[in-house]
Amino acid sequence: MEKRKVVFAGCGGITRAWMTAVQNFADVEVVGLCDLSASSIDAFRERWKVDPVSAGDNLERVIRESGADTVFDCTVPSAHPSVTKASLAAGCDVLGEKPMAPSLEEALEMVAAARAAGRTYAVIQNRRYLPGIRRFRQAIGETSIGPLTTLDVDFYIGAHFGGFRSEMDHVLLLDMAIHTFDQARFLSGADAEYVYASDWNPAGSWYRHGANAVAFFEMSGGVRCTYRGSWCAEGHNTSWEGQWRATGTTGTLLWDGGSGLTGEHDAGGEELIHDFAAVDVPPEVPLDYTGHAGVIRDFLDSLHTGRTPMTDCTDNVKSVAMVLAAVESAETGKRVKVWKETRT
Ligand SMILES: NC(=O)c1ccc[n+]([C@@H]2O[C@H](COP(=O)([O-])OP(=O)(O)OC[C@H]3O[C@@H](n4cnc5c(N)ncnc54)[C@H](O)[C@@H]3O)[C@@H](O)[C@H]2O)c1
Repeated sequence: MEKRKVVFAGCGGITRAWMTAVQNFADVEVVGLCDLSASSIDAFRERWKVDPVSAGDNLERVIRESGADTVFDCTVPSAHPSVTKASLAAGCDVLGEKPMAPSLEEALEMVAAARAAGRTYAVIQNRRYLPGIRRFRQAIGETSIGPLTTLDVDFYIGAHFGGFRSEMDHVLLLDMAIHTFDQARFLSGADAEYVYASDWNPAGSWYRHGANAVAFFEMSGGVRCTYRGSWCAEGHNTSWEGQWRATGTTGTLLWDGGSGLTGEHDAGGEELIHDFAAVDVPPEVPLDYTGHAGVIRDFLDSLHTGRTPMTDCTDNVKSVAMVLAAVESAETGKRVKVWKETRT
């Protein structure tokens, strides 16, 4: 298998998840490291015993000197547009961290830049690559709950990060809800059409802005999705994948974000409340690669074979559009139309 010559742009915390996966992939050679902070580069080198051909804070130079054909964009969200566009312009395929961009305009420019360069740009949505969500999705489509009408999700985690998140506007919607909203699209097979959302910073929050949010999405095909979330809720945390209820025309599934999946469906009866029977849920099937490893493996395989990766920017921009429409709704207090691709 042809080796991809990779530059890491951004050498901070999340690269641990990337390198844990990549060090087991024979088709990846890390040839360059780029970060604005020399100490982050040094820490990366030391931790992973990597000896790059080129390293420094100038991405174009690192790509040129290292002969890279691939960039892993692990920079902070505000830097994703410039880093990704520069990488594409330098002839590289890009796999980048979520969220694509802080604005829809920038995200669409990134999609256009990938098209113009004839390169692949895909995004890490690691929560699609877990056995639990695959099983839940299969159960929604195949079990006795009937066609899906509603998805409800709770996300409550008291996360003490520090760093860039402490200062961000709309931190929960912009930095975390992209995962949950993308999961809603993945689970329902529907795209969002309208959203009403509100976010706020509750008393006691250790973030500057928007640690709590609620959102209500009207999705294609009549599906509705409600979201309640907090990044500063102490106690009784949900999983990072959220706690979900899927309601169909004849039954309900509950998923805890991990291995817990149960369901009940209407079993008939004449009473006010009908009898229920347990839904026969499918078994959990292990995946060869999970989380970051799953997305990175899919991206690399797509480059080898010429197919489109699951989390290609052309798809992921629809999840970004959900986030940014929710932010607009939170700022204006109005129901907002979610951007939709109109080109054919
Ligand atoms: N997929 C996930 O589950 C997951 C989890 C955590 C973080 N993330 C995402 O990963 C990204 C990075 O988060 P982190 O926690 O590693 O942050 P971090 O602050 O630890 O690291 C970011 C690094 O990027 C560098 N950087 C910033 N601008 C740059 C630029 N223009 N060029 C080169 N380097 C630059 C910083 O100096 C820093 O070292 C964010 O987009 C975040 O949302 C994803």
